[in-house]
Amino acid sequence: GIERTFSIIKPNAVKKNAIGDIIHTFESKGLRVAAAKLTILSKEKCELFYAEHKERPFFGELVSFMTSGPVLLMCLTGEGAVLKNREIMGATDPKKADAGTIRAKHGDSMGENAVHGSDSLASAERELAIFFDKHELVNL
Ligand code: CMP
Repeated sequence: GIERTFSIIKPNAVKKNAIGDIIHTFESKGLRVAAAKLTILSKEKCELFYAEHKERPFFGELVSFMTSGPVLLMCLTGEGAVLKNREIMGATDPKKADAGTIRAKHGDSMGENAVHGSDSLASAERELAIFFDKHELVNL
């Protein structure tokens, strides 16, 4: 069925002017942008968003990178959008990501891996609610 998922174009990809290329990749594979916001994350919101990683050794580095510059927050919709988004992004580690995926093309390291995508429908709803009001999510 038609799902919605949450996507972030991370600071390293925004910095290299790859927003258009990344959105084109999503669109060319059948996803649609249903909301988008260019912003710099506050430390507080970023820590809330990544709360499940709080005890990980890379948490400090993750938050400092994700607040280091502008990000594009998006809601993507389409048939099976959660899994489809993850396939289009590729593996978390850009070195392991399949050719043709966004992370293979624009990822620089495990942390600076160009994009975030929700890992489940439940995560998608939680993450969208952190960054978007209900009325900001367009029905396509
Ligand atoms: P993301 O989908 O944004 O969710 C959590 C992020 O933590 C993940 O993508 C990676 O960018 C980052 N991450 C995961 N493992 C590591 C690691 N070992 N070192 C640094 N960052 C990591």
